[in-house]
Amino acid sequence: MKLNNSLRTRTSTLFYLAATASLLAKVGQAVNHANFKTCEQSAFARRHRLFADTMAKKAAEPNNKNAKSSSSSADGSTHSASSPYSVIDSSVHLDGHTVTASVQHEQAQVPLHFEIAFLKSGTVRICVQEVDPLVPRYNEAHKHILRDKGSSLPYASPEDIKMATEAVNGLVTHTVSYVNGSSAFSVRMTENPWTLEYLVNGKPTMQLNTSGLFHFEHLRQRPADGNLDDVDGGWEETFNNWTDHKRRGPESFGLDINFYGFEHVYGIPEHTSPLSLKDTRGGGEGAYNQPYRIYNLDVFNYQLDSPMAIYGSLPFMLAHNAEATVGVFWVNSSETWVDVTRKLNRGGSNQQSVVNTHWFSESGTMDVFLLPGPSTADVYRQYLEISEQTPMPREFALGYHQCRWNYEDQEDVLAVSAKFREHSIPYDVIWLDVEYTVGKRYFTWDYDKFPNPLDMQQELARNGHKLVTISDPHIMVDNDYHIWKEGNENGYFIKNIGGLGNYEASCWPGVSSWVDFLDPAASKWMGAQYGLDKFPESTTDMFVWNDMNEPAVFDGPEHTMDKALIQHGGWEHRDVHNLYGMMQQRSTFEGLLAREPIAMRPFLLSRSFYAGSQRYGAIWTGDNTASWGYLRASIPMLLGNNIAGMHFSGADVGGFFGNPDPELLTRWFQLGAWYPFFRGHAHFNTERREPWIFGEPYVSYIRNAIRERYRLLPHWYTLFRETSLTGMPLIRPMWMNFPAEPDLFAEQDTFMVGSSIMVAAITRPDTSIPVDVLFPGEEPWYDMHTHVAYPAQLATQFVVDLANTLVFARGGSIIPTREQQRQSSAYMKRDPFTLYVYVDQAGFAAGKLYIDDGETYDYQSGAFIERELTFLGSKLVSRASPLTKNTSAYQTFVQRMSGINVERIVVVGLAVAHNVTEAVVVENKTTRTVNVSHSHSSKIVAADTISNNSPCIVICNPAVFIGDDWEISF
Ligand code: GLC
Repeated sequence: MKLNNSLRTRTSTLFYLAATASLLAKVGQAVNHANFKTCEQSAFARRHRLFADTMAKKAAEPNNKNAKSSSSSADGSTHSASSPYSVIDSSVHLDGHTVTASVQHEQAQVPLHFEIAFLKSGTVRICVQEVDPLVPRYNEAHKHILRDKGSSLPYASPEDIKMATEAVNGLVTHTVSYVNGSSAFSVRMTENPWTLEYLVNGKPTMQLNTSGLFHFEHLRQRPADGNLDDVDGGWEETFNNWTDHKRRGPESFGLDINFYGFEHVYGIPEHTSPLSLKDTRGGGEGAYNQPYRIYNLDVFNYQLDSPMAIYGSLPFMLAHNAEATVGVFWVNSSETWVDVTRKLNRGGSNQQSVVNTHWFSESGTMDVFLLPGPSTADVYRQYLEISEQTPMPREFALGYHQCRWNYEDQEDVLAVSAKFREHSIPYDVIWLDVEYTVGKRYFTWDYDKFPNPLDMQQELARNGHKLVTISDPHIMVDNDYHIWKEGNENGYFIKNIGGLGNYEASCWPGVSSWVDFLDPAASKWMGAQYGLDKFPESTTDMFVWNDMNEPAVFDGPEHTMDKALIQHGGWEHRDVHNLYGMMQQRSTFEGLLAREPIAMRPFLLSRSFYAGSQRYGAIWTGDNTASWGYLRASIPMLLGNNIAGMHFSGADVGGFFGNPDPELLTRWFQLGAWYPFFRGHAHFNTERREPWIFGEPYVSYIRNAIRERYRLLPHWYTLFRETSLTGMPLIRPMWMNFPAEPDLFAEQDTFMVGSSIMVAAITRPDTSIPVDVLFPGEEPWYDMHTHVAYPAQLATQFVVDLANTLVFARGGSIIPTREQQRQSSAYMKRDPFTLYVYVDQAGFAAGKLYIDDGETYDYQSGAFIERELTFLGSKLVSRASPLTKNTSAYQTFVQRMSGINVERIVVVGLAVAHNVTEAVVVENKTTRTVNVSHSHSSKIVAADTISNNSPCIVICNPAVFIGDDWEISF
C-alpha cells in the first residue's frame, strides 16, 4: 500500500524530533537515575525490604526472644529468624503428587493455600495464594512461560511420593520424599514457624523462609474511611509526576530462598553486574545497595556494573559450588526485585557459606520451581522439563548482520552490500531501522527513499543476502493509517485506566497506541500483518526486528506504561508488564510462520524478552556505547542471558552510541564473532563504521574476525543443536565446563563456546598490556590459529597485537569447519568440511557435526545428518548419532546432501613418525588410501616455554561423504 505525500507531511514529526533531541542530549552521558525508581521509591519493594530489616533485627536480638522457635537442621544449617507464618493445624495433606497445606500469618485471619509438588526429575514446584482471594489474582503467567502452557508438566507418580510427620520438641515437621533412581529428594517442612528445606541425597541445598522473609499481602477491602495509608503506598504511590492508583490495593509477596553451602549465584538477567552476582545490601567491597530489579525498561545510556533493570529479564538463577549446581525459576510477570547477600564461612567451623536471596513481586501468585541438579547438565535437563527449548535457528541468522540507524535509502543499502563483496567480507543480513517507513508507520515504505523495495530485496537475494525491517509495537494514532484504523475498530489496543478508550502516549511516531498482545485476536491480527499479502512489497527473504517493546513510552512513568492500564481479560498492565515484549515476539513469530505454505523457521530480533522468549528468536542488549567498558560488560551480560536460557543473544558490535576508534572497533568485531548473535549497529548520529571504513590494516583484521565466524558456522550450528536438545548454554562461564575449579567461579573475561572452545577476550586498549589466561582442566589447550599447545593449569600472560586474538581448543575435542570463503552462508551450503581433531593426553578426541536444511522444520521428522566423531590411537571414526533414524525424510535428506564430503582432517597434538605418509579410508566397505602430510613436530611445550607449534598431521582430501559411516586410520 502506498501512503500519499499529504499523509506523509501530516506525520507527527514534532514528537519524534523532541524525543530524538532528548535522546541525543543524553548520548555519552550517564543514565538519568531520576527517571527510574530505586527500591525505596517502589512502595511494595520498600515494604519488603523494611520487613526484611525488621526480621533481621529480631533475629539479632539477644536470645532471639521474638522467635517462637529457632530451628536448626541436623546438618548444621541454621534458621536465623522466626517467621510470623505457620501452618494451620491438620491442614497438611498429600494428594497425588501434591502436598497441600494452609498457611496463615499470626495476626491475619486470611489463610493461604500452599502447594508443593515434585516433578519427575526431582524439581519441586511451590505455589501460594489466598485460599479464597477477594478478587482473582493474575494466575496465568505460567501459561505464557512454561512448556505446553504449563498444562502437562511431567509430575512424579503419586506412588513415588511419601510423607512422614514427626514432632521433636514441639516442632512439627513433615518430610515429603521422592526417590528417582539413585537420587533421593526430600522437602522438610516445619509447621511453626513455616519453613521449607530442600535436601538432595540428605544434603540441604535450598532453604525457604528460614530467614523468615515470607510475606504475603493478602487482598483486602479498600478502607471505607478513605484512609489509604494503612499500608505504606499500598493503594497509591507517586513517582515523579505519576501517581499509580492500585485498584486492588497491596497484593505483593516475597520469600527468602537461601542457598546453603554456596558462595556464588548467577543469572536473573538482564543487568550489567558481574557474572557472579554481587551482594545488594551494601557492606562488602563493590557491593550494591539496591536489589536486582526485574522489570523491562528502556534505559538509554544504561549504567555499567549496576543492578538496575534494563530491557529484558528472565527470573532464573543458578547457584554453584564445587560439588553441585542448583537452580530457581520464579514464574511471575509483575515487577520483581531480588536481594542477594552472602555469609562466607571458609574457616574450619562446621558452619558453611550461604547465599541468601530475597525475592519480591508486586502482584500475581507465587509460583516457584527449585531445580536440584546436582550437575549443571542436570539443572538444564530439569529446566527443559518445564520450559521450552531454544529451537534450531534459521541457518543464515548465525552469520554476520550489518545494521545502522539508518541505511538512508535503497541505493545506500545496495552500495553497502556491494562493498562487502568488494572487500571480500562475508555477511548475511542487512537491516533497515525506523526510517524506511512513512513517518514510523510500520508496514509502510517511504517510497521517496525506497522506490522499489522488491527490486532491492531481489538484488540482495541474488547475492545470498536477507533483509530485516523494524516493526515496533506502538501504532501511530492516525485514522488514515490502516493499521491504526483496523486495530482501533477491533479494540486491539491497550486501554486507559478504567478500561475505556485506547491508551495514547508518545513514541517514535508521535501519539501512538499499543497493540495488546495479551489478546489472542490482537496478537493474531498483528502477526498476520507480516503476511506477504499484507506487508506491501515484502518477500520471504525479509525478516523482522521488534524494538521498543518493554514497552518504551516516552512520556510514561519510567519510560514505560502506567501500571494501571487495562489489558485483555481486564488485567492491569501491572500484572503482565514483563510479558509484553515476549508476547510481541510470539505474535511476530507466528505471523512469519504462517506467511508461507511450507513453514519456514522465522528469524526475528527483539529488544525486550522474558522467560519463554528463547522460543521465538534472538535478542540483543540494547543501546550500548562505543567504549571499552561496554565491550567488556557484554561478556557477563551475554553469559547471564545464556545461563538463564536466553541463548541467542548479542550486543551491538562497535557500540550503539558514540564513535569507536579503529582499535576498539577491531576488538569488538573480534569478540562479536563469538557472540551467539553477531550484529554491528550504530546510532544515526554516529559516523559510518562498516568494516572497511578505517582502511588497512583494520579492514583485514575485521575481515579475519568475520571470516572466522563463517569458518566455524558448522560448529555454531551443531552447538545450537546441542542447546536445543539439552538446554545447555551456547556460550558458558568457564566454571560450567570445569565445575570443581573455584578459581573460575567468578571468571568472566574468558568464556567457553560450547564445551570445546575457550575465548580469552581482549577488552582493553593498548596492545602492550598483557592478557591473563588460566588454562583449566586436565587436558592441553591448543591455540586455534597457531596450534601451539598449552598445558592444563598453566596461568600465563599473552601480549596480543591487534591482528591476533586468543582462542583455544580444548584437547579432546573435534571441531568441524568450512574453509572456503564465500560472500554469505547461502553460498556455503554445499561446501566440503574440514575436521580439526585436537587430541588429549591419551590421544583421544570426540565431537559432533549436525546439518539439516537450515530453513524448514523437516529436521523434526528426521531430515538431518548428525555424526558422532571419535578419534583414538590413529583412527578417526564417524558414526550416526543415536537420534538418527532411517526414515524416508532422512533418506531424502541424505540423498540431497550427497557429494558433500570431508575435504581435510587436521589432527593437532599427536606425534606420529614422519614416515607415515598414507591414511587408509574405509567407507561403504571399500578401502582406499589418501595422502598424509606433516607440519611442525614437537612436544607439548612446558609451562614456561610456550613457543613451539604442536605436531600437526593433515589427511588430504579423504573425500568421505558426510552422511556415511567411515573410518580413517594412519
Ligand atoms: C532504539 C533501539 C535502537 C534503534 C533505535 C531506532 O533505541 O534500541 O537499536 O536503532 O531505537 O529504532
